[in-house]
Amino acid sequence: MPNNGMDDVVAAETVLSDVDGSAGRLILRGYSLDDLAGVARYEDMLSILLAGFFPDLPDEKRLPAALGATRRDVAALIRTDDAALPPIEAVRAMMARIPDGEDCETALKLIAAPAVFTAAVLRLRRGLAPLAPDESATHAADILRMIEGATPGPERVAALDAYLVTVSDHGLNASTFAARVVASTRAGLTSAVLAAISALKGPLHGGAPGPVLDALDSIGAPDRAEEWLESAVAQGERLMGFGHRVYRVRDPRADALKAALARLARSGGVDLSRVALAEAVERAALTLLKRKKPDRPLDTNVEFYTALLLEALNMPRDAFTCVFAMGRVGGWIAHAREQVLNGRLIRPKSRYIGPIPKEAA
Ligand code: CMC
Repeated sequence: MPNNGMDDVVAAETVLSDVDGSAGRLILRGYSLDDLAGVARYEDMLSILLAGFFPDLPDEKRLPAALGATRRDVAALIRTDDAALPPIEAVRAMMARIPDGEDCETALKLIAAPAVFTAAVLRLRRGLAPLAPDESATHAADILRMIEGATPGPERVAALDAYLVTVSDHGLNASTFAARVVASTRAGLTSAVLAAISALKGPLHGGAPGPVLDALDSIGAPDRAEEWLESAVAQGERLMGFGHRVYRVRDPRADALKAALARLARSGGVDLSRVALAEAVERAALTLLKRKKPDRPLDTNVEFYTALLLEALNMPRDAFTCVFAMGRVGGWIAHAREQVLNGRLIRPKSRYIGPIPKEAA
């Protein structure tokens, strides 16, 4: 049978991240995810991921201010008419106006953009004017402030930082691969990031957490989980937030985000009945998947607890993919630069299985 998913193909060498699917371990440029999530700010993660890829990258002390100033710069590219599109498409349209380049300035604009544009889109569609970025705030704090219009508490900022760090890079996932393919043609960082966003928005990649919440809403109560999930699987549906191409055990990012949710809950910022429902659904789903697919280990992936954490942070569910892009954009840019600096044009072969012209048969 043809393997159309390239499961075992090694398509790049990278210093950026390693996804160990059988041990359930994620290494981010020499650090274990467990040692970063909940400790590092997103700016710290950027310093780690981007080190060595730009000669003029500000050092870790100056990077937060440089990113803050860039948030202010990209705010000039907000277009109110784009806000009528679904959020991820609106953000993609606005980002397409950032001129292509390979320099640090372009990279910082692309990193600032999903944060500034998502906040603008969410306010515009509520009939409110976008809020100007505060360049003195940290990236996570400014994201929450630009969306909500009030200075967020430190525990909510820490929760968003934990999320952004956790999703910042993850091997050669579909969006990162798309970024590397485009970068390998020397098209420029904006083109690479636009390709990546387009891959991210699909429900099998970054579009899953919204449907996780739809499922929780539809299930409604813990004692209905088993019956609801059984019926969904019987109809051939996939349970969102479960399964992964690489992990054959629990996705370590799910644990990092569950821990972030627990820390947020200690400050009273989480609906505990929602968490209890989710935990009941998770238990029922894992039991069901084990029974229905005994040959295919299917465990909880990052999107399940992403959904709960972003909901607790009051992010609208149709903007979850945009928040994913706010974090993953650092990884996309690092991979794109690594490809340009160390790689070649990516141009695999296909195997022709169509008809042969008569004269050649
Ligand atoms: N629910 C029910 N069955 C599933 C699921 C699921 N979530 N995931 C895989 N399967 C079944 C699938 O139907 C197939 O069964 P069969 O062999 O009987 O046809 C078998 O498991 C293998 O599936 P596959 O399509 O070969 O697996 P894959 O490696 O291509 O899929 C996946 C990986 C993430 C696309 C898939 O597990 C899935 O669709 N999950 C739900 C969507 C989701 O949560 N996506 C977020 C992924 S994590 C974010 C990221 O890192 O990008």
